[in-house]
Amino acid sequence: MDVTDMGGKLQQVLLTEEQIGRRLDEMAAQIDADYEGRDLLLVGVLKGAVYAMADLSRRLHRSVPMDWMAVSSYGSGTRSSGVVRILKDLDSDITGRDVLIVEDIIDSGLTLSWLVGNLSSRGASSVEIASVLRKPGAAKVEVGVKYVGFDIPTEFVVGYGLDYAENYRNLSVIGTLRPEVYGA
Ligand code: XMP
Ligand code: MG
Repeated sequence: MDVTDMGGKLQQVLLTEEQIGRRLDEMAAQIDADYEGRDLLLVGVLKGAVYAMADLSRRLHRSVPMDWMAVSSYGSGTRSSGVVRILKDLDSDITGRDVLIVEDIIDSGLTLSWLVGNLSSRGASSVEIASVLRKPGAAKVEVGVKYVGFDIPTEFVVGYGLDYAENYRNLSVIGTLRPEVYGA
């Protein structure tokens, strides 16, 4: 059994560890160039962004502070509503700082659109986004994402921080699950 396959639960691997790593190399090089001579604060969105934060930050050729937020994008239902609740706020004051939000995925865009507005209103000098994945077909609001790893189809994916009911986050690849995993 292949350990990266989580015991045969995967339907399809969309992105391998190597593909993700190579793309993060490019994104980090771009971020290094764009923020040359400026201080940067990375803000990771828990929990999905932990792997992206670890791997992207270690590819930067500079020391960079990190902070974390946890937000819940959904109310009682399962559809993204744009109503966002802060479960864990930043520890740092971001007034006058250049903030780069690190995310795992942009789906409808509602969560990040809210987050950019929220962080901007605290007086950050700039607020940009780096996301490993984006689903262009699911966009409900346009969010200006400066750094995107991969555009993927409108399918539910797991791995590399992304979960199904809190499982599969520690999968090294990004893929889709077999329908029977959802009880289908
Ligand atoms: P919105 O729709 O506001 O939501 O952009 C972004 C959040 O929704 C979750 N999400 C996913 N989680 N596989 C996941 O494991 C997916 O395919 C997926 N699509 C959206 C995720 O928490 C993200 O931060
Ligand atoms: Mg999630």
